[in-house]
This record gives sequence, structure tokens and C-alpha cells, in this order.
Amino acid sequence: MPEAPVTVEDIGRGLTTGDAPFVEEARSRGELYIDQVYELYSQANHESWHRLWDRMQPRWERFANDHFQHGIEVLHLPADRIPHLTDVNRLLLPMTGFQAKAVSGYVPAFLFFDCLRRREFPTTITIRPSDHLDYLPEPDIFHDVAGHVPMHTEKAFADALARFGDCAHTAVEITAGMRDEKERARRLTSIIRAMSRFFWFTVEFGLMRGSRGIVAYGSGLLSSYGELQHAIESDEVARYPMQIEWAINQVFEIDHYQPLLFIVDSFEHLFDLVDQLERWMREGKLNNVAPGAPEIDERDLRSFLEAVK
Ligand SMILES: [Fe+2]
Repeated sequence: MPEAPVTVEDIGRGLTTGDAPFVEEARSRGELYIDQVYELYSQANHESWHRLWDRMQPRWERFANDHFQHGIEVLHLPADRIPHLTDVNRLLLPMTGFQAKAVSGYVPAFLFFDCLRRREFPTTITIRPSDHLDYLPEPDIFHDVAGHVPMHTEKAFADALARFGDCAHTAVEITAGMRDEKERARRLTSIIRAMSRFFWFTVEFGLMRGSRGIVAYGSGLLSSYGELQHAIESDEVARYPMQIEWAINQVFEIDHYQPLLFIVDSFEHLFDLVDQLERWMREGKLNNVAPGAPEIDERDLRSFLEAVK
């Protein structure tokens, strides 16, 4: 894979979400995997990280699961500046085999899950602008590294995530022999929708029973100052034990706080649920999930259709 060249114009521009020529040019050249050229971060980028970190810290102490807190400590994630992915990976790799891998943007679904299977986590390197700390629809490095990566230090969670990657291969395997292309695409769309919903209600927005009551392990919650507390304490949120048959048929919207969340007992429990998801996929139980959000992007479907078994 050719490396994206750094131009003079890039220096000092920063790596700000929506305004990062280095990343946008890599994307326009079709380069998915890129380097984290650390020198490109501006002082304002580091300040965004610092401010996000400082206000999250007390909320993590109250609402995050213990493994997350432990992950932050053992990875020595810095509070005052954006972390170097190489520093993070040097510590993370020996723990669970996971590593953060810098990407230029959206990763089509099959490639994303296939990365998880290889224990590589596609990681955005840009950071949200300092005047938009609260909400950004697209992921940034604070979401990916402060929200996701500490969870990858925990063996059972890491195993569940890699197992989830296996499921994408199962989907390709069980549909590969189908002659009817239209039916194959329809079935894969349903399976991708089911997997996306499962991922959303666990890895992104999952709650867990902990020694201190209900805590969060989903990264969408762990990287959101407002929603983390809301998810745990608000009367407006319905919280139920995780049920696959419900989650895979449940539509979700990404532009507001989640009104419905699911609780797992442990990461061993989560691993067993992923196993069950795969069994159900083989039995055809994911072939006709309820329509509706998320809509499956053409790129996502194509990534499955074109995947090599
Ligand atoms: Fe995420």
C-alpha cells in the first residue's frame, strides 16, 4: 500500500474532522489504510483532546465498567495530547493481539468486520473541532481511541470482537453458493442489518451489570459526555437484559440519545451471544429481520458480495 505523501500545505493545517486535506486526499486516491502523521496535529487538535478527556474523566469514574478504567491505565493514554497509535499498540498488542490501525475514513462493512477478525481496529485519526466537542455524527480519534481501544485490553471482550469478525465470513460462506443473485443480495442485506444492530446495541451502546450496578461498556457512550450519564441515570431510557431476537430487529437512530439499551452480564456472556448470533445466522434466522434503520449502504453490500470466501 503506497504511503500518502505529506505536502508542505498539510503542515500546520491540523487533522480536524471535516478539514484535514492529508486524510481527504488519501481517501480520494482510494487509500484506506494510512499513517498517523503525528506532526500534522495542530495545537488546537491537542487542546480538543485535552478538553474532551478532562470532562470525561469524572464520568468514566462513575459510569464506566472497571475493565475500561483499567485499560486506560495500562495503555498510559495521555490526558493532555492525542496519543501516538504506535505507543498505544506497543502496549496493547502483547495483551490481546489487538492493534489500532489508522484509516482514512469509512470502512465498508465486510472490510471492517474482517479487520476485527484479524484483531485490527480501524481507527480514525482526525479529531472533532474544538467548537463541536459535544456531538459529531462521524467517528473521530477520541471516540475510537478513548472510547473503543481501552476495551481491547480485556481478553474476553477482545475475543468477542474478533468472533464478531468471524460472523462476517460466515455470512459470505453461507450465501456464496446461491445462484439467485437478487435473493443473495436481499439475504445479505438482512444479515448485515442484523449484524449492524447487534454491534450497535453491544459494542457501541452496551451496558453491563457491574459490582457498582449498571455501567457502560459501549464506546458510543464512553466517548459522549452527555449521553454516558443519561444512559445510566435517566428515567427516559428503557434498559433490558440483552436479547438477540429483539436487538437484531430493533431500528435505531443515530442523531439523538438512545432511548433503549441492552444489558449483558459479563464479556463472557457477550462472547456467548456472538456465538449464538453466528448459529442463528447459519440456521437462517437473520435472513428476514425487520426492515428499517440502519439502511444498508451499497458499499457495505458490495463489500460482502465481492468478499472472497
Ligand atoms: Fe464506534
